[in-house]
This record gives sequence, structure tokens and C-alpha cells, in this order.
Amino acid sequence: MTMQLAVLASGIGTNLAAILKAIASGRLEARVKLVLSNKIDAPVQNVARQNGIPVWVRDHRAYESREAFDAAMLEAIRAAGVDAIALAGYMRMLSPMFVKAYEGRILNIHPAILPSFPGVNGYANAVDYGVRITGCTVHFVDEQVDHGPVIIQAAVPIGPNDTAESVMARIHALEHRIYPQALQWLARKRLSVEGRRVRLSAAKFPVTGVASAQTGPLGPWIVCPPLEEGF
Ligand code: GRF
Repeated sequence: MTMQLAVLASGIGTNLAAILKAIASGRLEARVKLVLSNKIDAPVQNVARQNGIPVWVRDHRAYESREAFDAAMLEAIRAAGVDAIALAGYMRMLSPMFVKAYEGRILNIHPAILPSFPGVNGYANAVDYGVRITGCTVHFVDEQVDHGPVIIQAAVPIGPNDTAESVMARIHALEHRIYPQALQWLARKRLSVEGRRVRLSAAKFPVTGVASAQTGPLGPWIVCPPLEEGF
């Protein structure tokens, strides 16, 4: 069955574009019903509109509290008949009330290997810290920032000449592959959570190995669990 998705985003929208591409190609069995943003001028809205997706944009500062803003989002999300929510560069904390309403059905993408470098500047913080490997994480959302159970992570090396921008470009390219994959696992109800560990039930096509390592135009990377065909 097609998963009815809402995407919360406040940025450029490259992850939304990647999700829509995966849907269009039939790899991701979902439909984006609504894109929501708290940033009036966020470019992600254009990506949504160009694809005929309704957009809900409100300035959160016009609401008296985080809960009031989240309640308004929730009302729009419910009215759109949404089953699951993807955060794709949504830069605000969600209230516990919102998380509870869609518990186990909200995913986030973060540009670092959690639990390292949570927060708004994942890429830059990893480069400034001097780590040799960084990457991106898709995880379930809980009430703490960048904290819920981890679904999939991809890693890239940081070389001596790398800058925050060059690392960001590589991570972004991987985000666009692991996020649609994680959402497809959610759509297929293949994810279950035991404590902090996420189990992925058997694939239609057997998954070989625990991780896959590859090298491409952007250099070497590793992803775990491995991406399935098409992602
Ligand atoms: C991504 O890097 C994501 O990891 C972070 O916000 C960024 C959103 O980028 N949470 P985009 O707007 O999807 O291009």
C-alpha cells in the first residue's frame, strides 16, 4: 500500500527532490501529500509547488508557543490523511505532543554519524573537530534532538584538503540515496524497534553482507545496512 507522507523542511529541498524522484521511479511506494515549513521564504516550497504538492507554510513566531505551532501543523497533516512524516532539513525541535501523535512514524536525516555531531552544523562540526570519517544518519524521531533509534548510516572519509563544503557535497549525495531507502523500508513495514536497535525484516531479494562499500565519482563510501537494488 502506498505510504501517505508529509515532509517537514526549512531549507533548499534537495532531500525532498530525491524523495520525489524515488517515488516517480517506483522505488519508493509513497506519495507526498503535504510539505510543511516554518520558514516563509524556504526554497523547498518551490520544489513542492513545481511537483504539484500542497504547501503549508507559517511563521512559527506568530504562534504563542511551540505546542501551538505544532498543533496547527498536526491539524494540517491529519487533514491530508498522512501516515508518516519525513523531516528533511526541518530546523526546529518538535514538541512531545507532536512526536507522540506519530510515534514510530517520523524519520529524520542528519548530516553526521550520530551520536557524534548532533545539532544544526553536523558537517562543519565534524570537519572542525578533525574526525577522519563522517557521514549521515536516518533515524526515528523521539523527543530529543537527533536522538532516536538509528535505521541506516553512510560514511565518507575526510581528506586533508577537504572543507566543510566538499564534505557536505559528498554527504548530500549519500543522503539522497539512504533517505528514500529508509522510507521504503518504513512503507513496507520492515522496520521494528527493540530498545535502541532497529531490526530490518527480510528483504524480498536477499541482502548480502552487513554493509556495502563502494567508490564512485565522489570517492569512497560505506553504507550499513546495504542499499537495495535501485537505491
Ligand atoms: C540535510 O543535509 C539534512 O541532513 C539536514 O538538513 C539538510 C537539508 O538539505 N537535516 P535539503 O534542504 O534537503 O537540501
